[in-house]
Amino acid sequence: MANYDVIIIGAGPGGYVSAIRCAQLGLKTAVVEGRETLGGTCLNVGCIPSKALLHATHMLHEAEHNFADMGLKGKTPSVDWPQMKSYKSDVVGQNTGGIEFLFKKNKIDWIKGWASIPAAGKVQVGDDVHEAKNIVIASGSVPSSLPGVEIDEKIVVTSTGALELPKVPKKMVVIGAGVIGLELGSVYARLGSEVTVVEYMDAVCPGMDKDVQRTFKRVLEKQGLKFIMGAAVQGVETTKSKAKVKYQPKKGGDEEMIDADVVLVATGRKPYADGLGLDALGVKMTERGQIATDAQWRTNVPGVYAIGDVIEGPMLAHKAEDEGMAVAEVIAGKHGHVNYGVIPGVVYTTPEVATVGATEDALKAEGRKVKVGKFNFMGNARAKAVHQGEGFAKIIVDAETDRVLGAAIIGPAAGDMIHEICVAMEFGASAEDIALTCHAHPTYSEAVREAALACGDGAIHA
Ligand code: NAI
Repeated sequence: MANYDVIIIGAGPGGYVSAIRCAQLGLKTAVVEGRETLGGTCLNVGCIPSKALLHATHMLHEAEHNFADMGLKGKTPSVDWPQMKSYKSDVVGQNTGGIEFLFKKNKIDWIKGWASIPAAGKVQVGDDVHEAKNIVIASGSVPSSLPGVEIDEKIVVTSTGALELPKVPKKMVVIGAGVIGLELGSVYARLGSEVTVVEYMDAVCPGMDKDVQRTFKRVLEKQGLKFIMGAAVQGVETTKSKAKVKYQPKKGGDEEMIDADVVLVATGRKPYADGLGLDALGVKMTERGQIATDAQWRTNVPGVYAIGDVIEGPMLAHKAEDEGMAVAEVIAGKHGHVNYGVIPGVVYTTPEVATVGATEDALKAEGRKVKVGKFNFMGNARAKAVHQGEGFAKIIVDAETDRVLGAAIIGPAAGDMIHEICVAMEFGASAEDIALTCHAHPTYSEAVREAALACGDGAIHA
């Protein structure tokens, strides 16, 4: 069988990006992927299809709520759900096909099938054993469920099943007010489902900036989502076409029950390394079931590396991509590096929510003296022009040095605007550096500048 410099296991954003970088650095590279198409969870059943549905349903929301106000009169569009799903599949197809094109362009071999690692330097796919000087495990993650909750992907679904429902459910219960629950919950709420989110914690998106959590929940409630907070789901009972979700209020009292046509389980994901033979190979794992790596993504087995959701850190496509590029550089004898302090997190609802760096609370808990500059989108002309005056940009700086330590934005295009802060943080910038940078008018990004101004002598439009 063929000999490679690198074989990468898994063609998600971690694996495929790593493969392209390896090839660019002159390494003979192959990727093993068992799915029919490249791109992993993100492109096939995650980020990309959900963004297509978020976009389509946002358009519907605009037509229903804002068109008439803008002088756009006429019949509100009705939902052709099979067509919406087909649009979503087209978007997925264009993207997965794009990766296949990039593989050909970069002369990367796609070994189709599921891999195992019988020994260091060897990757088995079916009956074939391939030789590789280096192996990168980028096998990703799968949804994790709860005890007492059996997933059938019909009535009790994960994000994968939620993208393929045969019809829009009347009542949907979402377990977990994290990223998946809120993104897909808002898709179905806009499509007309009665959506109730049951969350164990007392705030949405645990760990996020508290101001953002409050505003985010309020905005989603206005959009029709209902929340049952501080409630631990104990189990789900299903009949042929319905479900009952049992939950226990944290503050005490009797167990309660809520009916649903579909239950979306969005209580997190877990690393996936099944079938790779890591046990026999002697690969060290963490207590949380992740592959243990050093700072350069090496496992304890020489020549075997791991990146992305299957190792420690936030389960985010862009974190995996960065690790993919960096590990390729390490393998090529260069200096791959990822700055884990500057990895943005984005929720693609409307408004979008984006954060980076430390939160105000975490810094205060550490005893750091911080200053916070905040600016509401109500003071941003462009946001008001497009019915998106809700939300704010918030920058947290060191009180003495003015250095930017973190930021949180809830508002239009927050997921794009956060990168201004990311770049600033990578350069060790101060809020004053952002405030002194000319921002085009009228743009949403002026809100970021105003937040930076608010860290100094004050925002102009506040
Ligand atoms: P998550 O970890 O973001 O949220 C899970 C939520 O479920 C938490 O709020 C938790 O408190 C709650 N929960 C857990 N057990 C519960 C119980 N028994 N009863 C009630 N609530 C309970 O997980 P999620 O949303 O499933 O996402 C999985 C991963 O995928 C995350 O790492 C996320 O970052 C990533 N992802 C990222 C996206 C993005 O960047 N836009 C989009 C989708 C997923």
